[in-house]
Amino acid sequence: MAEEKAARIIRTPFGQLADGTGIEAFRLTNARGFAVRLLTYGATIQAIEAPDRHGHFADLVMGYAGLEDYVEKPQYFGTIVGRYGNRIAGGRFTLDGTAYRLAVNNGPNALHGGLKGFDKAVWTVLEASDGAEAVLRLAYVSADGEEGYPGRLAATVTYRVGAENALTIDYRATTDRPTVLNLTNHAYFNLGGEGAGDVLGHVAQIEADGFTPVDEHLIPTGEIRPVADTPFDFRTPKRIGAEIRDARDPQILFGRGYDHNFVLNDRQPGVATLAARVTDPASGRVLDVLTDQPGVQFYTANFLTGTRAGKSGRLYRQGDGFCLETQHFPDSPNQPHFPSTVLRPGETFRSTTIFRFGVEG
Ligand code: BGC
Repeated sequence: MAEEKAARIIRTPFGQLADGTGIEAFRLTNARGFAVRLLTYGATIQAIEAPDRHGHFADLVMGYAGLEDYVEKPQYFGTIVGRYGNRIAGGRFTLDGTAYRLAVNNGPNALHGGLKGFDKAVWTVLEASDGAEAVLRLAYVSADGEEGYPGRLAATVTYRVGAENALTIDYRATTDRPTVLNLTNHAYFNLGGEGAGDVLGHVAQIEADGFTPVDEHLIPTGEIRPVADTPFDFRTPKRIGAEIRDARDPQILFGRGYDHNFVLNDRQPGVATLAARVTDPASGRVLDVLTDQPGVQFYTANFLTGTRAGKSGRLYRQGDGFCLETQHFPDSPNQPHFPSTVLRPGETFRSTTIFRFGVEG
């Protein structure tokens, strides 16, 4: 009989890219049946299966069934985003007196690392092990100058599942020249199950007294604005849909809903604490997001247009999921008063985010 393990990992092939590169999938499970499926393409979270209040499991993240869709219809579903999550204005920044020009892929701006960001990279498996925890450690080395960014950046992302119904993500990076980075995961959640409809009835709480307003191109203005008396006030639990159609606030218009960085309260470097909690009253599922990062991008899938079908075969539409992308603030390289995203040789970037699942009621 196999030795009892609290968590297990199973490795399977997940198809081939056009150039023949093999992509693998890893299923991490614990004794309660909680399961996470990860891909080496984009270091992607392809599925997270967790129970509702009656013990029924559903897949709670949006994504595709096959590799082809990930390659041909990229949407950052569950992928790692890098080198720089969210936008850098004009695809330009200056560091130590040198001006850098990045690949631009979102109008005049650089979004989520450029034309071929970390979401489209094939990650190398450094560790796939199980026991008390199931662990998948993936690595990607971004060459000096890739997408315009300086420095050879060596990044690792470690996913862990233990006895708890939680996925822990540890990020590490080093560089050989001064550079900027902002790593996150872009999972789109639907606590009723992916493809099950919209998330406007989910209830969100975000531990943020402020957010970073944007212009019509979703570039931060530089202001940190109190959430009080705005649709961005999630300091106490509120339905995601409650104010998402509030035309009085231009910020909601610019974002077509929520597509904003929230400035998290009381962050301590190296200590992941609660950033947001989302509950689905219908299923009873609860998601807690914990991080040591200073911000979180709350994005209500506003750019999904009902033209792409996910794993369930159903078309994904605006509002069918929400992202809580733990991060540094967008455009920090051009906003000196935002927390710094500079990484220098000899330093190690370290960060932890936890997606923890539970039930209530
Ligand atoms: C951004 C959106 C963008 C989306 C792409 C989010 O992180 O804030 O503006 O359209 O990612 O999936």
